[in-house]
Amino acid sequence: MDKPSYNYDIVRGFVNWSILWGVVAVLVGILIAFQMVLPQLNFPPLFTYGRLRPLHTNAGLFGWGLGSFFAAFYYITQRLTRQRVWSDRLARFQLWWFNATIIAAAVTLVLGYNTSKEYHELEWPLDIMVVVLWVIFAVNIVMTVVKRREEQLYVSLWFILGSLVGVAVLYVVNAAEVPVSLFKSYSAYAGTNDANVQWWYGHNAVAMVLTLPPLAVFYYFLPKTTGAPLYSHRLSIVSFWSLVFMYLWTGAHHLLWTPVPDWVQTLAMGFSIMLIAPSWGSVINGYLTMNGQWHQMRTNYLVKFLILGITFYGLQTLQGPSQAVRTFSAFIHYTEWVPGHVHMGTMGWVSMVMFASIYYMLPHLYGRRVYSVPLANLHFWLVLLGQLGYSVSLWIAGVQQATMWHAMNPDGSLHYSFMESVLAMYPYWWVRAFAGVVYLAGVLVFVYNIAMTVRRGEPVAEAV
Ligand code: HEM
Ligand code: HEM
Repeated sequence: MDKPSYNYDIVRGFVNWSILWGVVAVLVGILIAFQMVLPQLNFPPLFTYGRLRPLHTNAGLFGWGLGSFFAAFYYITQRLTRQRVWSDRLARFQLWWFNATIIAAAVTLVLGYNTSKEYHELEWPLDIMVVVLWVIFAVNIVMTVVKRREEQLYVSLWFILGSLVGVAVLYVVNAAEVPVSLFKSYSAYAGTNDANVQWWYGHNAVAMVLTLPPLAVFYYFLPKTTGAPLYSHRLSIVSFWSLVFMYLWTGAHHLLWTPVPDWVQTLAMGFSIMLIAPSWGSVINGYLTMNGQWHQMRTNYLVKFLILGITFYGLQTLQGPSQAVRTFSAFIHYTEWVPGHVHMGTMGWVSMVMFASIYYMLPHLYGRRVYSVPLANLHFWLVLLGQLGYSVSLWIAGVQQATMWHAMNPDGSLHYSFMESVLAMYPYWWVRAFAGVVYLAGVLVFVYNIAMTVRRGEPVAEAV
Protein backbone atom coordinates (compact mmCIF):
# COMPACT_ATOMS: atom_id res chain seq x y z
CA MET A 1 0.00 0.00 0.00
CA ASP A 2 1.38 3.45 -0.87
CA LYS A 3 2.43 5.70 2.00
CA PRO A 4 -0.20 8.38 2.57
CA SER A 5 0.89 11.97 3.18
CA TYR A 6 -0.55 13.30 6.41
CA ASN A 7 -1.55 16.82 7.32
CA TYR A 8 0.76 17.64 10.25
CA ASP A 9 0.31 21.36 9.81
CA ILE A 10 -2.97 21.23 11.67
CA VAL A 11 -1.44 19.11 14.43
CA ARG A 12 1.37 21.67 14.86
CA GLY A 13 -1.20 24.48 14.98
CA PHE A 14 -3.23 22.90 17.74
CA VAL A 15 -0.12 21.87 19.71
CA ASN A 16 1.19 25.43 19.73
CA TRP A 17 -2.08 27.15 20.57
CA SER A 18 -3.12 24.66 23.21
CA ILE A 19 0.21 25.14 24.98
CA LEU A 20 -0.30 28.90 24.93
CA TRP A 21 -3.78 28.52 26.48
CA GLY A 22 -2.33 26.02 28.96
CA VAL A 23 0.23 28.56 30.15
CA VAL A 24 -2.54 31.16 30.50
CA ALA A 25 -4.65 28.68 32.52
CA VAL A 26 -1.78 27.89 34.88
CA LEU A 27 -0.85 31.58 35.31
CA VAL A 28 -4.45 32.52 36.12
CA GLY A 29 -4.70 29.45 38.39
CA ILE A 30 -1.68 30.70 40.33
CA LEU A 31 -3.10 34.21 40.51
CA ILE A 32 -6.43 33.02 41.96
CA ALA A 33 -4.57 30.71 44.35
CA PHE A 34 -2.65 33.76 45.67
CA GLN A 35 -5.86 35.81 45.78
CA MET A 36 -7.18 33.32 48.33
CA VAL A 37 -4.38 34.22 50.73
CA LEU A 38 -3.72 37.83 49.67
CA PRO A 39 -7.12 39.42 48.95
CA GLN A 40 -5.39 42.66 47.94
CA LEU A 41 -4.45 40.87 44.68
CA ASN A 42 -8.10 41.26 43.58
CA PHE A 43 -8.44 44.16 41.14
CA PRO A 44 -12.13 44.98 40.78
CA PRO A 45 -14.16 44.93 38.69
CA LEU A 46 -12.36 42.89 36.01
CA PHE A 47 -9.70 40.91 37.82
CA THR A 48 -11.45 39.60 40.91
CA TYR A 49 -11.52 35.97 42.01
CA GLY A 50 -15.13 35.62 40.85
CA ARG A 51 -14.30 36.74 37.29
CA LEU A 52 -10.96 34.95 37.01
CA ARG A 53 -11.97 31.54 38.37
CA PRO A 54 -14.19 30.69 35.36
CA LEU A 55 -11.48 32.11 33.10
CA HIS A 56 -9.04 29.63 34.69
CA THR A 57 -11.36 26.62 34.35
CA ASN A 58 -12.33 27.44 30.77
CA ALA A 59 -8.73 28.07 29.69
CA GLY A 60 -7.65 24.83 31.41
CA LEU A 61 -10.43 22.51 30.28
CA PHE A 62 -11.15 23.93 26.86
CA GLY A 63 -8.07 25.93 25.80
CA TRP A 64 -5.42 23.48 26.96
CA GLY A 65 -7.50 20.30 27.32
CA LEU A 66 -9.62 20.38 24.17
CA GLY A 67 -6.92 22.16 22.14
CA SER A 68 -4.34 19.46 22.86
CA PHE A 69 -6.94 16.73 22.24
CA PHE A 70 -7.70 18.26 18.84
CA ALA A 71 -3.97 18.07 18.04
CA ALA A 72 -3.68 14.45 19.16
CA PHE A 73 -6.98 13.45 17.53
CA TYR A 74 -5.88 14.80 14.14
CA TYR A 75 -2.59 12.95 14.49
CA ILE A 76 -4.04 9.67 15.75
CA THR A 77 -7.00 9.59 13.35
CA GLN A 78 -4.80 10.11 10.30
CA ARG A 79 -2.31 7.47 11.42
CA LEU A 80 -4.89 4.88 12.42
CA THR A 81 -7.00 5.29 9.29
CA ARG A 82 -3.92 5.63 7.03
CA GLN A 83 -5.81 8.50 5.49
CA ARG A 84 -5.05 12.23 5.25
CA VAL A 85 -7.57 14.38 7.08
CA TRP A 86 -10.71 14.71 4.94
CA SER A 87 -10.53 18.51 4.53
CA ASP A 88 -7.38 20.54 5.16
CA ARG A 89 -9.29 23.81 4.79
CA LEU A 90 -11.96 22.84 7.26
CA ALA A 91 -9.27 21.81 9.74
CA ARG A 92 -7.48 25.15 9.35
CA PHE A 93 -10.74 27.01 9.73
CA GLN A 94 -11.42 25.00 12.89
CA LEU A 95 -8.10 26.08 14.40
CA TRP A 96 -8.86 29.78 13.97
CA TRP A 97 -12.49 29.38 15.01
CA PHE A 98 -11.28 27.58 18.14
CA ASN A 99 -8.92 30.43 19.00
CA ALA A 100 -11.61 33.03 18.31
CA THR A 101 -13.97 31.15 20.64
CA ILE A 102 -11.42 30.95 23.44
CA ILE A 103 -10.61 34.66 23.11
CA ALA A 104 -14.32 35.57 23.06
CA ALA A 105 -14.81 33.38 26.14
CA ALA A 106 -11.95 35.05 28.01
CA VAL A 107 -13.17 38.56 27.21
CA THR A 108 -16.84 37.94 28.08
CA LEU A 109 -16.03 36.09 31.31
CA VAL A 110 -13.75 38.88 32.53
CA LEU A 111 -16.49 41.39 31.65
CA GLY A 112 -18.83 39.40 33.87
CA TYR A 113 -21.11 37.74 31.29
CA ASN A 114 -21.80 34.34 32.78
CA THR A 115 -24.73 31.92 32.72
CA SER A 116 -23.64 30.80 36.23
CA LYS A 117 -23.70 27.13 35.14
CA GLU A 118 -20.31 25.67 36.00
CA TYR A 119 -18.28 24.58 32.93
CA HIS A 120 -21.08 25.99 30.76
CA GLU A 121 -20.61 29.65 31.69
CA LEU A 122 -20.55 31.05 28.16
CA GLU A 123 -23.55 33.13 27.07
CA TRP A 124 -25.69 32.11 24.11
CA PRO A 125 -23.77 33.77 21.20
CA LEU A 126 -20.70 31.85 22.35
CA ASP A 127 -22.73 28.67 22.67
CA ILE A 128 -23.40 29.00 18.97
CA MET A 129 -19.67 29.40 18.31
CA VAL A 130 -18.99 26.23 20.30
CA VAL A 131 -21.61 24.28 18.36
CA VAL A 132 -20.15 25.43 15.02
CA LEU A 133 -16.67 24.44 16.25
CA TRP A 134 -17.84 20.99 17.22
CA VAL A 135 -19.77 20.36 13.99
CA ILE A 136 -16.75 21.30 11.86
CA PHE A 137 -14.52 19.03 13.90
CA ALA A 138 -16.96 16.12 13.94
CA VAL A 139 -17.55 16.25 10.17
CA ASN A 140 -13.82 16.24 9.47
CA ILE A 141 -13.02 13.36 11.79
CA VAL A 142 -16.04 11.24 10.82
CA MET A 143 -15.36 11.71 7.10
CA THR A 144 -11.71 10.75 7.60
CA VAL A 145 -12.84 7.58 9.38
CA VAL A 146 -15.42 6.84 6.66
CA LYS A 147 -12.73 7.13 3.98
CA ARG A 148 -10.19 5.08 5.94
CA ARG A 149 -7.77 2.68 4.33
CA GLU A 150 -7.45 0.46 7.38
CA GLU A 151 -10.38 -1.81 8.05
CA GLN A 152 -10.10 -2.26 11.81
CA LEU A 153 -11.00 0.59 14.13
CA TYR A 154 -8.38 0.57 16.88
CA VAL A 155 -9.82 1.38 20.30
CA SER A 156 -8.54 4.99 20.27
CA LEU A 157 -10.92 5.72 17.41
CA TRP A 158 -13.85 4.39 19.42
CA PHE A 159 -12.95 6.71 22.27
CA ILE A 160 -12.60 9.67 19.87
CA LEU A 161 -15.95 8.97 18.19
CA GLY A 162 -17.61 8.46 21.59
CA SER A 163 -16.36 11.84 22.75
CA LEU A 164 -17.57 13.52 19.52
CA VAL A 165 -21.12 12.22 19.97
CA GLY A 166 -21.18 12.63 23.76
CA VAL A 167 -20.06 16.27 23.89
CA ALA A 168 -22.52 17.19 21.12
CA VAL A 169 -25.53 15.73 22.94
CA LEU A 170 -24.58 17.09 26.37
CA TYR A 171 -23.76 20.57 25.22
CA VAL A 172 -26.89 21.08 23.15
CA VAL A 173 -29.25 19.75 25.84
CA ASN A 174 -27.70 21.86 28.61
CA ALA A 175 -27.56 24.92 26.36
CA ALA A 176 -31.36 25.10 25.93
CA GLU A 177 -32.02 28.70 26.97
CA VAL A 178 -34.09 31.75 26.19
CA PRO A 179 -32.03 34.80 25.18
CA VAL A 180 -33.37 38.10 26.52
CA SER A 181 -30.56 40.32 25.22
CA LEU A 182 -27.25 39.96 23.42
CA PHE A 183 -25.44 38.70 26.52
CA LYS A 184 -28.19 37.48 28.80
CA SER A 185 -30.24 34.31 28.63
CA TYR A 186 -32.33 32.21 31.00
CA SER A 187 -32.17 28.45 31.16
CA ALA A 188 -35.06 26.58 29.55
CA TYR A 189 -35.25 24.42 32.70
CA ALA A 190 -36.27 25.53 36.16
CA GLY A 191 -35.40 24.64 39.76
CA THR A 192 -34.29 21.11 40.49
CA ASN A 193 -34.72 20.10 36.83
CA ASP A 194 -32.24 22.79 35.89
CA ALA A 195 -29.77 21.59 38.50
CA ASN A 196 -30.22 17.99 37.40
CA VAL A 197 -29.64 18.74 33.71
CA GLN A 198 -26.67 20.97 34.61
CA TRP A 199 -24.91 18.25 36.60
CA TRP A 200 -25.83 15.57 34.09
CA TYR A 201 -23.89 17.83 31.71
CA GLY A 202 -21.23 18.73 34.30
CA HIS A 203 -20.22 15.25 35.25
CA ASN A 204 -20.39 13.99 31.71
CA ALA A 205 -18.12 16.83 30.70
CA VAL A 206 -15.68 15.02 33.01
CA ALA A 207 -16.46 11.84 31.07
CA MET A 208 -16.51 13.12 27.50
CA VAL A 209 -13.79 15.79 27.85
CA LEU A 210 -11.49 14.64 30.68
CA THR A 211 -11.80 10.85 30.35
CA LEU A 212 -12.54 9.57 26.83
CA PRO A 213 -10.07 11.85 24.99
CA PRO A 214 -7.06 11.24 27.28
CA LEU A 215 -7.89 7.51 27.21
CA ALA A 216 -7.89 7.61 23.38
CA VAL A 217 -4.48 9.25 23.59
CA PHE A 218 -3.19 6.83 26.24
CA TYR A 219 -4.28 3.74 24.29
CA TYR A 220 -2.47 5.01 21.21
CA PHE A 221 0.75 6.33 22.71
CA LEU A 222 1.50 3.69 25.36
CA PRO A 223 2.05 0.85 22.84
CA LYS A 224 3.81 3.27 20.47
CA THR A 225 6.16 4.46 23.19
CA THR A 226 6.98 1.12 24.77
CA GLY A 227 7.01 -0.88 21.53
CA ALA A 228 4.80 -3.46 23.27
CA PRO A 229 1.33 -4.31 21.90
CA LEU A 230 -1.75 -3.40 23.93
CA TYR A 231 -2.46 -6.20 26.42
CA SER A 232 -6.08 -6.72 25.32
CA HIS A 233 -8.02 -4.98 22.59
CA ARG A 234 -11.16 -6.82 23.68
CA LEU A 235 -10.87 -5.55 27.27
CA SER A 236 -10.41 -2.01 25.97
CA ILE A 237 -13.58 -2.21 23.86
CA VAL A 238 -15.59 -3.66 26.77
CA SER A 239 -14.25 -0.85 28.98
CA PHE A 240 -15.27 1.70 26.37
CA TRP A 241 -18.90 0.62 26.04
CA SER A 242 -19.46 0.08 29.74
CA LEU A 243 -17.79 3.39 30.60
CA VAL A 244 -19.97 5.33 28.18
CA PHE A 245 -23.12 3.57 29.37
CA MET A 246 -22.48 4.03 33.08
CA TYR A 247 -21.24 7.63 33.09
CA LEU A 248 -24.55 8.93 31.78
CA TRP A 249 -26.38 8.05 35.02
CA THR A 250 -23.99 9.56 37.54
CA GLY A 251 -24.53 13.35 37.30
CA ALA A 252 -26.76 13.59 40.37
CA HIS A 253 -23.87 12.57 42.65
CA HIS A 254 -23.12 16.31 42.58
CA LEU A 255 -26.57 16.90 44.08
CA LEU A 256 -26.63 14.53 47.04
CA TRP A 257 -28.65 15.88 49.98
CA THR A 258 -30.50 18.34 47.73
CA PRO A 259 -34.20 18.48 46.72
CA VAL A 260 -33.44 16.25 43.70
CA PRO A 261 -35.57 13.08 44.20
CA ASP A 262 -33.95 10.53 46.46
CA TRP A 263 -34.12 7.72 43.92
CA VAL A 264 -32.24 9.86 41.36
CA GLN A 265 -29.49 10.42 43.93
CA THR A 266 -29.35 6.71 44.80
CA LEU A 267 -29.20 5.75 41.13
CA ALA A 268 -26.29 8.16 40.62
CA MET A 269 -24.55 6.76 43.68
CA GLY A 270 -24.95 3.16 42.45
CA PHE A 271 -23.70 3.88 38.95
CA SER A 272 -20.76 5.89 40.33
CA ILE A 273 -19.61 2.88 42.31
CA MET A 274 -20.07 0.57 39.32
CA LEU A 275 -17.90 2.96 37.29
CA ILE A 276 -14.85 1.63 39.09
CA ALA A 277 -14.99 -1.49 36.89
CA PRO A 278 -14.77 0.09 33.41
CA SER A 279 -12.35 2.75 34.65
CA TRP A 280 -10.02 0.16 36.09
CA GLY A 281 -10.46 -1.93 32.93
CA SER A 282 -8.32 0.70 31.20
CA VAL A 283 -5.91 1.11 34.10
CA ILE A 284 -5.26 -2.64 34.28
CA ASN A 285 -4.95 -2.87 30.50
CA GLY A 286 -2.27 -0.20 30.70
CA TYR A 287 -0.39 -1.93 33.53
CA LEU A 288 -0.53 -5.34 31.81
CA THR A 289 0.73 -3.79 28.57
CA MET A 290 3.81 -2.93 30.63
CA ASN A 291 4.49 -6.62 31.38
CA GLY A 292 8.17 -7.17 30.71
CA GLN A 293 8.60 -3.42 30.03
CA TRP A 294 8.68 -2.01 33.55
CA HIS A 295 12.41 -1.27 33.24
CA GLN A 296 11.38 1.49 30.81
CA MET A 297 10.12 3.46 33.80
CA ARG A 298 13.80 4.15 34.46
CA THR A 299 14.96 4.71 30.90
CA ASN A 300 12.05 6.19 28.96
CA TYR A 301 10.67 9.55 30.12
CA LEU A 302 7.53 9.16 27.99
CA VAL A 303 6.61 5.97 29.84
CA LYS A 304 6.96 7.83 33.14
CA PHE A 305 4.47 10.48 32.07
CA LEU A 306 2.02 7.88 30.72
CA ILE A 307 2.18 5.46 33.65
CA LEU A 308 1.98 8.19 36.29
CA GLY A 309 -0.90 9.65 34.28
CA ILE A 310 -2.88 6.39 34.23
CA THR A 311 -2.05 5.84 37.91
CA PHE A 312 -3.59 9.21 38.77
CA TYR A 313 -6.59 8.20 36.68
CA GLY A 314 -6.83 4.97 38.67
CA LEU A 315 -6.69 6.85 41.98
CA GLN A 316 -9.13 9.45 40.71
CA THR A 317 -11.65 6.77 39.77
CA LEU A 318 -11.47 5.24 43.25
CA GLN A 319 -11.67 8.57 45.03
CA GLY A 320 -14.56 9.79 42.83
CA PRO A 321 -16.90 6.87 43.57
CA SER A 322 -16.22 7.16 47.31
CA GLN A 323 -17.13 10.88 47.15
CA ALA A 324 -20.38 9.81 45.50
CA VAL A 325 -21.44 7.82 48.58
CA ARG A 326 -23.96 9.86 50.60
CA THR A 327 -22.23 9.55 53.97
CA PHE A 328 -18.78 10.46 52.65
CA SER A 329 -20.27 13.24 50.53
CA ALA A 330 -21.87 14.73 53.66
CA PHE A 331 -18.35 15.05 55.04
CA ILE A 332 -16.32 16.40 52.11
CA HIS A 333 -18.86 18.25 49.96
CA TYR A 334 -18.13 22.02 49.80
CA THR A 335 -14.67 21.48 51.32
CA GLU A 336 -11.17 21.91 49.90
CA TRP A 337 -11.08 18.16 49.34
CA VAL A 338 -12.93 18.58 46.04
CA PRO A 339 -10.43 20.89 44.27
CA GLY A 340 -7.79 18.38 45.47
CA HIS A 341 -9.70 15.65 43.60
CA VAL A 342 -10.14 17.86 40.53
CA HIS A 343 -6.47 18.73 40.17
CA MET A 344 -5.23 15.16 40.51
CA GLY A 345 -7.34 14.63 37.37
CA THR A 346 -6.45 17.80 35.49
CA MET A 347 -2.81 18.49 36.49
CA GLY A 348 -2.04 14.79 36.93
CA TRP A 349 -4.00 12.47 34.66
CA VAL A 350 -4.99 14.69 31.71
CA SER A 351 -1.94 16.94 31.54
CA MET A 352 0.65 14.17 32.07
CA VAL A 353 -0.79 12.11 29.20
CA MET A 354 -0.99 15.15 26.94
CA PHE A 355 2.62 16.19 27.74
CA ALA A 356 3.76 12.69 26.73
CA SER A 357 1.77 12.73 23.50
CA ILE A 358 3.23 16.10 22.49
CA TYR A 359 6.80 14.95 23.17
CA TYR A 360 6.12 11.81 21.14
CA MET A 361 4.68 13.75 18.20
CA LEU A 362 7.46 16.39 18.04
CA PRO A 363 9.93 14.43 15.85
CA HIS A 364 7.06 13.55 13.50
CA LEU A 365 5.88 17.15 13.34
CA TYR A 366 9.24 18.91 13.01
CA GLY A 367 11.59 16.19 11.77
CA ARG A 368 13.82 16.77 14.83
CA ARG A 369 14.62 14.79 17.94
CA VAL A 370 13.49 16.20 21.27
CA TYR A 371 16.16 18.73 22.24
CA SER A 372 16.89 17.56 25.77
CA VAL A 373 15.81 14.38 27.57
CA PRO A 374 17.24 15.62 30.92
CA LEU A 375 15.01 18.70 30.59
CA ALA A 376 12.02 16.47 29.83
CA ASN A 377 12.83 14.52 33.00
CA LEU A 378 13.09 17.77 34.96
CA HIS A 379 9.69 18.76 33.55
CA PHE A 380 8.29 15.44 34.75
CA TRP A 381 9.55 15.83 38.32
CA LEU A 382 8.46 19.46 38.63
CA VAL A 383 4.89 18.81 37.48
CA LEU A 384 4.68 15.69 39.63
CA LEU A 385 5.85 17.61 42.71
CA GLY A 386 3.57 20.54 41.94
CA GLN A 387 0.58 18.30 41.44
CA LEU A 388 1.18 16.27 44.61
CA GLY A 389 1.75 19.46 46.62
CA TYR A 390 -1.54 20.85 45.34
CA SER A 391 -3.72 17.76 45.87
CA VAL A 392 -2.26 16.42 49.11
CA SER A 393 -2.38 19.80 50.87
CA LEU A 394 -6.01 20.27 49.87
CA TRP A 395 -7.06 16.76 50.91
CA ILE A 396 -5.65 17.41 54.39
CA ALA A 397 -7.26 20.87 54.37
CA GLY A 398 -10.61 19.36 53.38
CA VAL A 399 -10.57 16.84 56.20
CA GLN A 400 -9.68 19.51 58.76
CA GLN A 401 -12.32 21.88 57.40
CA ALA A 402 -15.01 19.16 57.48
CA THR A 403 -14.02 18.15 60.99
CA MET A 404 -14.25 21.77 62.18
CA TRP A 405 -17.67 22.22 60.58
CA HIS A 406 -18.97 19.07 62.26
CA ALA A 407 -17.49 19.66 65.74
CA MET A 408 -20.24 20.21 68.32
CA ASN A 409 -20.35 21.41 71.93
CA PRO A 410 -22.22 19.26 74.49
CA ASP A 411 -25.22 21.63 74.19
CA GLY A 412 -25.45 20.96 70.44
CA SER A 413 -24.05 24.31 69.29
CA LEU A 414 -21.18 24.48 66.77
CA HIS A 415 -17.73 24.40 68.31
CA TYR A 416 -16.06 26.57 65.65
CA SER A 417 -17.31 29.67 63.91
CA PHE A 418 -17.18 29.62 60.10
CA MET A 419 -14.47 32.30 60.19
CA GLU A 420 -12.25 30.11 62.36
CA SER A 421 -12.53 27.36 59.73
CA VAL A 422 -11.55 29.85 56.99
CA LEU A 423 -8.49 31.04 58.94
CA ALA A 424 -7.41 27.42 59.46
CA MET A 425 -7.17 27.02 55.66
CA TYR A 426 -4.48 29.67 55.15
CA PRO A 427 -1.42 27.41 55.56
CA TYR A 428 -2.84 24.94 53.02
CA TRP A 429 -3.73 27.68 50.57
CA TRP A 430 -0.14 28.97 50.77
CA VAL A 431 1.17 25.47 50.04
CA ARG A 432 -1.25 25.16 47.09
CA ALA A 433 -0.13 28.50 45.65
CA PHE A 434 3.57 27.59 45.85
CA ALA A 435 2.88 24.09 44.51
CA GLY A 436 1.29 25.89 41.55
CA VAL A 437 4.51 27.86 41.01
CA VAL A 438 6.51 24.60 40.96
CA TYR A 439 4.05 23.20 38.41
CA LEU A 440 4.42 26.36 36.30
CA ALA A 441 8.22 25.97 36.41
CA GLY A 442 7.73 22.46 34.94
CA VAL A 443 5.47 23.79 32.21
CA LEU A 444 8.00 26.50 31.30
CA VAL A 445 10.76 23.87 31.02
CA PHE A 446 8.42 22.00 28.64
CA VAL A 447 7.86 25.12 26.51
CA TYR A 448 11.61 25.84 26.39
CA ASN A 449 12.36 22.25 25.39
CA ILE A 450 9.85 22.41 22.55
CA ALA A 451 11.13 25.77 21.31
CA MET A 452 14.70 24.43 21.32
CA THR A 453 13.59 21.22 19.58
CA VAL A 454 12.12 23.26 16.76
CA ARG A 455 15.21 25.50 16.49
CA ARG A 456 18.12 23.24 17.33
CA GLY A 457 16.88 19.65 17.66
CA GLU A 458 19.01 17.04 15.90
CA PRO A 459 17.34 16.22 12.55
CA VAL A 460 15.89 12.70 12.26
CA ALA A 461 17.07 10.71 9.28
CA GLU A 462 13.69 10.38 7.61
CA ALA A 463 10.48 12.30 8.26
CA VAL A 464 8.57 9.74 10.36
C1 HEM B 1 -15.28 6.94 38.46
C2 HEM B 1 -15.01 8.17 38.16
C3 HEM B 1 -15.37 9.39 38.98
C4 HEM B 1 -16.37 9.58 39.89
C5 HEM B 1 -17.47 8.60 40.31
C6 HEM B 1 -16.26 10.95 40.37
C7 HEM B 1 -17.07 11.52 41.33
C8 HEM B 1 -17.07 12.83 41.70
C9 HEM B 1 -17.93 13.43 42.70
C10 HEM B 1 -18.94 12.67 43.54
C11 HEM B 1 -17.67 14.75 42.72
C12 HEM B 1 -18.38 15.80 43.55
C13 HEM B 1 -17.67 16.11 44.81
C14 HEM B 1 -18.47 17.10 45.62
O1 HEM B 1 -18.62 18.26 45.22
O2 HEM B 1 -18.95 16.69 46.67
C15 HEM B 1 -16.63 15.00 41.74
C16 HEM B 1 -16.13 16.25 41.42
C17 HEM B 1 -15.34 16.48 40.32
N1 HEM B 1 -14.63 15.54 39.60
FE1 HEM B 1 -14.79 13.54 39.81
N2 HEM B 1 -15.19 11.56 39.76
C18 HEM B 1 -14.63 10.64 38.89
C19 HEM B 1 -13.54 10.84 38.08
C20 HEM B 1 -13.07 12.07 37.72
C21 HEM B 1 -12.07 12.30 36.70
C22 HEM B 1 -11.33 11.23 35.91
C23 HEM B 1 -11.92 13.63 36.61
C24 HEM B 1 -10.95 14.29 35.67
C25 HEM B 1 -10.30 15.32 35.88
C26 HEM B 1 -12.84 14.27 37.55
C27 HEM B 1 -13.06 15.63 37.70
C28 HEM B 1 -13.95 16.18 38.59
C29 HEM B 1 -14.24 17.60 38.63
C30 HEM B 1 -13.71 18.67 37.67
C31 HEM B 1 -15.11 17.79 39.74
C32 HEM B 1 -15.59 19.13 40.29
C33 HEM B 1 -16.94 19.44 39.86
C34 HEM B 1 -17.38 20.73 40.51
O3 HEM B 1 -17.05 21.79 39.98
O4 HEM B 1 -18.03 20.70 41.56
N3 HEM B 1 -13.50 13.27 38.23
N4 HEM B 1 -16.27 13.81 41.16
C1 HEM C 1 -0.50 25.58 38.58
C2 HEM C 1 -1.57 24.96 38.28
C3 HEM C 1 -2.95 25.29 38.80
C4 HEM C 1 -3.33 26.09 39.85
C5 HEM C 1 -2.46 26.86 40.82
C6 HEM C 1 -4.76 26.04 39.91
C7 HEM C 1 -5.55 26.73 40.83
C8 HEM C 1 -6.91 26.64 40.96
C9 HEM C 1 -7.71 27.30 41.97
C10 HEM C 1 -7.17 28.24 43.04
C11 HEM C 1 -9.00 26.93 41.78
C12 HEM C 1 -10.21 27.35 42.61
C13 HEM C 1 -10.47 26.34 43.69
C14 HEM C 1 -11.65 26.69 44.55
O1 HEM C 1 -12.68 27.14 44.03
O2 HEM C 1 -11.57 26.54 45.79
C15 HEM C 1 -9.03 26.03 40.65
C16 HEM C 1 -10.16 25.42 40.17
C17 HEM C 1 -10.18 24.60 39.06
N1 HEM C 1 -9.12 24.34 38.20
FE1 HEM C 1 -7.20 24.77 38.56
N2 HEM C 1 -5.23 25.23 38.91
C18 HEM C 1 -4.14 24.77 38.19
C19 HEM C 1 -4.16 23.96 37.07
C20 HEM C 1 -5.31 23.54 36.43
C21 HEM C 1 -5.37 22.88 35.16
C22 HEM C 1 -4.14 22.54 34.31
C23 HEM C 1 -6.69 22.63 34.90
C24 HEM C 1 -7.32 21.94 33.71
C25 HEM C 1 -6.71 21.25 32.80
C26 HEM C 1 -7.47 23.14 36.01
C27 HEM C 1 -8.84 23.04 36.15
C28 HEM C 1 -9.58 23.50 37.22
C29 HEM C 1 -10.98 23.20 37.45
C30 HEM C 1 -11.88 22.30 36.59
C31 HEM C 1 -11.36 23.88 38.62
C32 HEM C 1 -12.74 23.87 39.30
C33 HEM C 1 -12.66 22.95 40.51
C34 HEM C 1 -13.92 22.81 41.34
O3 HEM C 1 -14.95 23.42 41.00
O4 HEM C 1 -13.88 22.11 42.37
N3 HEM C 1 -6.60 23.70 36.91
N4 HEM C 1 -7.75 25.88 40.17
